Amino acid sequence: MNIEHTTRHYADITCDLLAFCVFEDEGPKGAAFRALDRLTHRLAGAALSSGEFKPELHRTCLIHNPKGLKARRLLLIGGGKRAAFSLARLRELAGTAVRRARSATSKSVAFVPPLESNTADCARVCVEGAIYGNYESDMYKTRDKEGKDVELFLLATRRGPARRDIEKGIRRGTIIGNAVNFTRTLANEPSNILTPSQLAERAVAIGNEVGLSVEILEREEMQKLGMNTLLAVSRGSDEPPKLIILRIKRQMRALKKGEPLYALVGKGVTFDSGGISIKPSEKMEDMKADMAGGAAVLGAMAALAQLRPRRRVIGLIPAVENLPSGKAVRPGDVVKSYLGKTVEIINTDAEGRLILADALAYAKTLGATRLVDMATLTGAVVIALGSINAGVMGTDQEIIDRLRGNCEITGEKLWQLPIDEEYRKAISSDIADIKNVGNRSGGAITAAKFLQEFAEDTPWVHLDIAGVDLDHDGRPFAAKGATGFGVRTLVQLFSN
Ligand code: BES
Ligand code: ZN
Ligand code: ZN
Repeated sequence: MNIEHTTRHYADITCDLLAFCVFEDEGPKGAAFRALDRLTHRLAGAALSSGEFKPELHRTCLIHNPKGLKARRLLLIGGGKRAAFSLARLRELAGTAVRRARSATSKSVAFVPPLESNTADCARVCVEGAIYGNYESDMYKTRDKEGKDVELFLLATRRGPARRDIEKGIRRGTIIGNAVNFTRTLANEPSNILTPSQLAERAVAIGNEVGLSVEILEREEMQKLGMNTLLAVSRGSDEPPKLIILRIKRQMRALKKGEPLYALVGKGVTFDSGGISIKPSEKMEDMKADMAGGAAVLGAMAALAQLRPRRRVIGLIPAVENLPSGKAVRPGDVVKSYLGKTVEIINTDAEGRLILADALAYAKTLGATRLVDMATLTGAVVIALGSINAGVMGTDQEIIDRLRGNCEITGEKLWQLPIDEEYRKAISSDIADIKNVGNRSGGAITAAKFLQEFAEDTPWVHLDIAGVDLDHDGRPFAAKGATGFGVRTLVQLFSN
């Protein structure tokens, strides 16, 4: 999709579809809407007064050959309540415009953001939303493919900041939007295609494109290093494990004294059957996306490589497949982690924390002084927070506050759960230093307590995205399937 900016009056824009937002609580009374109504010889107002169009959030009304406009179609979009308007909502509205255009087979879309939306950040989120909305997850369909991609997105802002700022916003939005869709594609890929090796190959390929150096630790090296909790998970599978390490080429110089090094660590289980503690078959297919955290780290690192963040950051993705077999790790087995702590593996389905344990510890060996992990870690967080908020926990309250403060911009909601010391008891083992599961209660928290043991004193934040990585229903601004959750959250953490 080409993305352009125009300061021309929207009435003079020739395009297949012109999208215009209407606030629910303003209806025909808003100044911008009244101007549109006059221009269109009362066509726009009639859509409202007839009751055909209710400007509730993301509701739409399509008017063909609108009088007074050069556009072939006019799309009215409900913008919700004016007071609830935010950058996150603006992103969604741009997405709704593009998705509605797709179903109307419109190839060129001009989007008129609500009047005050004329900053570089507004341009950025509009572009992010447009790219997000133009995504489809039908990559393996050989027929009945939608094939309805929008080819041109025109951002129509008349007044506002310097053109240069808008152009900058568009550039940022393009980078982030494409990174999110890249992540969605990885998570949508079936596990027979996206094996740990294939994930590593995709990392190398995107790395070459954007300026990431990609190092892959193979099984033999991990054996030498003693990464036995990671290796234990992959033992049941014929697919070799990979530890993918990402560095931004432009940042590859010695750290200044006292300069923090962030490590983003993403769970990369390309399929989670549960292993010997096998899962029930219902919805097991969703476990192809158990690498969504790793995919988000890869997407975010790809975006950051292009955005030149000030802070230093590396990425680690432990990638494995969790299957049962004659070689698989058994419940009750004890292994020694890279850090040296011994782990009793009670449940082989609590595998995410096992691979993250070694990856977090290794990130510190690489010099990381701030740890942020992202993982589809527990069913318990889905019970607690559903599919609206991801869980956030950790020992670095400053980063947690920053992440949560960014939600209004990113649209990715986070809710903090406690990790009091008392929760640690649930995962003490009789035979080893720690066991990999607690009892059923507080499952998202005990999983985090397990990770904390391997972050030790290094400030650490954990994001449990198990409930938000997939969307089975689709939204007016989003295709069904992987959401790409986390990419925007991680990128925003590094915006100055
Ligand atoms: N990958 C799952 C968690 C998950 C569940 C992700 C639902 C997305 C949707 C994880 O590896 C897992 O199986 N966790 C177990 C842990 C339990 C055995 C302590 C769980 O949550 O049931
Ligand atoms: Zn599992
Ligand atoms: Zn898992």
